[in-house]
Amino acid sequence: MIAVIGATGNVGRPLVASLVARGTRPRILTRDPARARRAPGAEAVIGDLDTPGCADELLAGADAAFVVTAGPDAAAHDRVIAAAVARHGVRQVVKVTSVAALPPVQDAYGATHAAAETAYLATGAHCTFLRPAAFMSNTLQWHWSVTGSSTVHQPFGDLPQAVVDPADVAEVARRVLDTPRLGGRAYTLTGPESLTPRQRAHRLAATLGRPLTFVDAPPEQARRAMTDTGLPPAYVDALLTSQSHRDPIRGGLPLPTVHDLTGRPPGTFTAWLAGHVEVFR
Ligand SMILES: NC(=O)c1ccc[n+]([C@@H]2O[C@H](COP(=O)([O-])OP(=O)(O)OC[C@H]3O[C@@H](n4cnc5c(N)ncnc54)[C@H](OP(=O)(O)O)[C@@H]3O)[C@@H](O)[C@H]2O)c1
Repeated sequence: MIAVIGATGNVGRPLVASLVARGTRPRILTRDPARARRAPGAEAVIGDLDTPGCADELLAGADAAFVVTAGPDAAAHDRVIAAAVARHGVRQVVKVTSVAALPPVQDAYGATHAAAETAYLATGAHCTFLRPAAFMSNTLQWHWSVTGSSTVHQPFGDLPQAVVDPADVAEVARRVLDTPRLGGRAYTLTGPESLTPRQRAHRLAATLGRPLTFVDAPPEQARRAMTDTGLPPAYVDALLTSQSHRDPIRGGLPLPTVHDLTGRPPGTFTAWLAGHVEVFR
């Protein structure tokens, strides 16, 4: 049995759908019973990783675990999950980290992901780390300003990133779960082309068929927007520092990894937009 943590998120959702479509019955974790109901075919554990025993309930009897942790508590959650992986003798772990975990680590965000990788390796499980570039789905955060004022406010407007469709990360995860010999290593995952936030905003405007204004937001403005949502300042600083690196090997340039592992080219940003355009109307 495959246990899926982060099952309702950007990568977890398409992974669960793909596992169910292939006739397996994954055990998924969510805090929200309504989200569990949107994953028919899966066995749901309703729980919160902050609650002692939650990871044990999910991982007892699991052969493999797919793990996404997110947000400021991710490091604590990874320690709890890794301890439970070791306790229950889970044989295979596929864990989503980030291009920021690529050595040599350059910032606190990357250090957190690298520490998580180390914690899972110490469990003795056969571990695979998926290190994606920025997700195409981050674009969904633009929807308020696009629908409200036809603007896109972004820091680092000219920084190219080979943004990746989270569905491709999910497809790589499924391949590795199906074929453990592909695992036991780390993969950097990117989309097929390098695009700056400004270029992505132009693509969105073309998809919508109306003009959008790109506004170069000073990093301080982006920082305030994030801390205003309640995120801890240290976490926001780490995230923004990591996003500001102009580093071709950290998601700046497209890589063939998704194609090599799945046998098909990664999805384009234009295709992703076509599938999500209604959100921006
Ligand atoms: N976004 C990017 O550009 C990007 C790029 C590279 C790497 N990454 C990494 O990818 C990972 C996923 O990021 P994301 O932003 O796309 O997140 P996401 O997968 O959309 O995130 C949230 C998932 O975590 C679950 N979750 C959160 N807190 C939980 C808790 N206390 N107990 C149980 N489950 C909990 C949520 O489940 P419920 O809400 O259903 O309970 C949901 O399934 C992160 O590690 C991130 O650092 C992201």
